[in-house]
Amino acid sequence: MVTRCGARETRPTSESWWREGVLYQIYPRSFADANDDGIGDLRGITGNLEYLEWLGIDGIWLNPIHPSPNVDWGYDVSDYTGVHRDLGTLADLDELVAEAGRLGIRVLLDLVPNHTSDQHPWFRERPAYYVWADQVPNNWQSIFGGGSAWELDAETGRYYLHNFAREQPDLDWWNPGVRDEFDRILRFWLDRGIAGFRIDVAHALIKDNELRDEPSAEDRVFSMNRPETHQILRDWRRLADSYDPPRILVGEAYVLDVERWARYYGSGYDQLNLAFNFGLVHADLDAAEMRAVVAATEMLLPEGAWPGWTGSNHDVGRLTTRWCDGDEARARCALLILLTLRGTPFLYYGDELALADGHVPPERRLDVAEPSRDPCRTPMPWSRHGGWTNPWLPLEDTSRNVEEQRTDPSSTLHFTRDLIALRRRFRDVRLGSYAELPAPEGAWAWQRGEGVVVAVNLCATPVEIEGIEGAVMLATNRARESELVRGRLRLGAAEGVIIVAPEAK
Ligand code: NOJ
Ligand code: CA
Repeated sequence: MVTRCGARETRPTSESWWREGVLYQIYPRSFADANDDGIGDLRGITGNLEYLEWLGIDGIWLNPIHPSPNVDWGYDVSDYTGVHRDLGTLADLDELVAEAGRLGIRVLLDLVPNHTSDQHPWFRERPAYYVWADQVPNNWQSIFGGGSAWELDAETGRYYLHNFAREQPDLDWWNPGVRDEFDRILRFWLDRGIAGFRIDVAHALIKDNELRDEPSAEDRVFSMNRPETHQILRDWRRLADSYDPPRILVGEAYVLDVERWARYYGSGYDQLNLAFNFGLVHADLDAAEMRAVVAATEMLLPEGAWPGWTGSNHDVGRLTTRWCDGDEARARCALLILLTLRGTPFLYYGDELALADGHVPPERRLDVAEPSRDPCRTPMPWSRHGGWTNPWLPLEDTSRNVEEQRTDPSSTLHFTRDLIALRRRFRDVRLGSYAELPAPEGAWAWQRGEGVVVAVNLCATPVEIEGIEGAVMLATNRARESELVRGRLRLGAAEGVIIVAPEAK
């Protein structure tokens, strides 16, 4: 394929496809509905792979697809090797993996090893797989609010641990039987051609064996973040590496402190392949804040380890709302940042449209957590009419939709696509080193590899950055593309550019 700029595109095909590629998170119930029952499904995803290929996506991560009572919308799994009937069948998944593979798109599943549904047969048949106590043993609190993480089980008269909803009992990862079950689950999917897993609450598996009190609800060091969890990740990495091609582990290690977070890669880079950088997620779209997170990440990641970047997901909300208050120019700046830092970017379905959080009226609320995460899980707007019949969550605002943006070369969708194509074209952007460049307050500039410079102005007034030379190859304000910069770059409010020197690779 020949790009707009005339250079040949390269699709990463090597074992490190996930370092060079762009990944895309799909919330299956909300992506596309093939049988028109109002619930997105696997065949809906298969039917829209062409769109993802057109956009330039290399891999998709699906939120949980397994049978579940849906108290936490799939994160309460009742059968780890099945497919939820709302979403389709195992044959539909095989077809999705095969079709995606034909287009060079890999499929990652969500592994939920910290807890099961209370409806999982293990809960009654293998109670030793869970964490129990005769009395409430400590001050651990449920992350979803509502008080203690311990629940009295009427049947046994004992208390079980649930770090999340009471219908999500935590597994006891000190029990070797649990480890064996999950080895089987991992192999089941990896043998079927799954490219790897996003691991839910990867930092929480092991609980303190003395069940000691937490110092505070903000600093959880006994109910999660235990050192023994690292051995589990190491064992899984060895398993994933033993496949040909190697499979990958992407961790939701929800730790904001970069030093503690980086530990989940392992000091020998022998644990997670990638981890979402929640330090950046929780920063504002502010040059100083983000620069500091990136500098710490560059400094603290172990040798060879590869960062993972995201601005949106099904828990934290959409970047266009969180970071940009709906503003499309700022959303383009955010996309420019995520796709040009050293590391692997994850887009959340709709990010490419600068989609904002949806509106979900209280009477349609479905989420178990407080505050509700429903607004960032609303259906994908495929067209002005939405493309859905009575969807499970409301789709009210379709002003940013795929159909209209796809036919408009000045849209954010085209901007995102061109950004991805530029990554493919320049190895420096995919794999080059990151070096921060001097920039005035409110702006941020960095070099990738030999000859690519990215500069972004995140404040409300124009700035000038000195010492920059080259051709503007891509700009949030598309009118500026092909402009030549000779020493001084002027950026308006919420404006960003990628500048390429002749020697760039
Ligand atoms: C993190 C998941 O992303 C979130 O959606 C879920 O509620 C919790 N883990 C519990 O599984
Ligand atoms: Ca459906």
